[in-house]
Amino acid sequence: MSENHTLTVENINLVHQEALHQLASVTSIAELDKIRPDLTGKKSPLITMLKMLGTLNPDERKALGGHLNKVREEIATALDKREHMLQQQALEQKLQQEKQDVSLPPRPDMVGKIHPITQVIDEVRHIFSKMGFQLAEGPDIEREYYNFTALNFPDDHPARQMHDTFYLPTSQDNPELGAVLLRTHTSPVQIHAMRQSQPPLRILAPGRTYRCDSDATHSPMFHQVEGLVVDRNIHMGHLKACVIDFCQTFFGISNLKVRFRPSYFPFTEPSAEMDIGCLRGDGKLKIGEGNDWLEILGCGMVHPNVLKMGGIDPDQYHGFAFGIGIERLAMLKYGIPDLRAFYESDARWLQHYGFSPFEKPSSMMGI
Ligand code: DAH
Repeated sequence: MSENHTLTVENINLVHQEALHQLASVTSIAELDKIRPDLTGKKSPLITMLKMLGTLNPDERKALGGHLNKVREEIATALDKREHMLQQQALEQKLQQEKQDVSLPPRPDMVGKIHPITQVIDEVRHIFSKMGFQLAEGPDIEREYYNFTALNFPDDHPARQMHDTFYLPTSQDNPELGAVLLRTHTSPVQIHAMRQSQPPLRILAPGRTYRCDSDATHSPMFHQVEGLVVDRNIHMGHLKACVIDFCQTFFGISNLKVRFRPSYFPFTEPSAEMDIGCLRGDGKLKIGEGNDWLEILGCGMVHPNVLKMGGIDPDQYHGFAFGIGIERLAMLKYGIPDLRAFYESDARWLQHYGFSPFEKPSSMMGI
């Protein structure tokens, strides 16, 4: 760049040429940014010359000023143009590099599957929601009070023993909580639900449950679904119709044979267990055929003491309840032989026994 900035048309043209030459030689935005101060910065020849205009007499100023301003605009335009061009070039280069080869074979990704436990819980929820049941929840870590006492378990009931139930260390900060444990069943949700809202109640509570038990047919963590209905004039006929309807819909067998056997649970009176008809043979089991029976759920009329514990007057209201093992439902409906496999997180097992998110079984169709 010429250091002689004397204001003459030649010098102005020289600055112009020099600027255009410099612009033509940069090949990236970074390089352009480097020379930008030399072209239009405060100390650039162009600006220095503009400042010098003030020292000229009016005639000279008029003659040279017009030319200088024109050159200034041309340099600015050339700079913008070059900048735009370089940006465009950089973008194009980037696009070229990122170009995708659509002819490449796809990666062998596995399609995810829905776990049978999740699937069965969804199916059960769906069936009961059509009967007007609402979801309810309770904590996995529960007070012994809700898990046993409020459900009318006597103090010396065997289920309360340490070798059956996972107790947690007692909290020193909140001694009023009493003993705390991993809930052994979903039945404590009955008490929470009754204390939360007044009858009529129709609640369904699926969730995890825990017992000190582990072999081919027992897992220390498993799943249950609890049902509770409380209203005026509720009787055993309502209970039977409800659970029969559920089983027929769930297994998709409209003439499914069932029977009720008297049983005992501290929180229901009378209590029953329901069996469904099945056929056993060749190590296989078929639901809805043959003359054998298979236990499927526990149920009964809510004990008056339990209604009282839930803050409900047993002289005004009655209720029924039922509890079903989710794993058992899944094993029976989908022919899954081993309980332990549910929790082993073996992707091959899940590919085989899992469900496509896009296909729903017939029990979930309609409505
Ligand atoms: N809580 C019982 C269990 O874990 C199952 C059960 C039986 C639940 C009868 C109920 C019921 O609500 O009425 O073995």
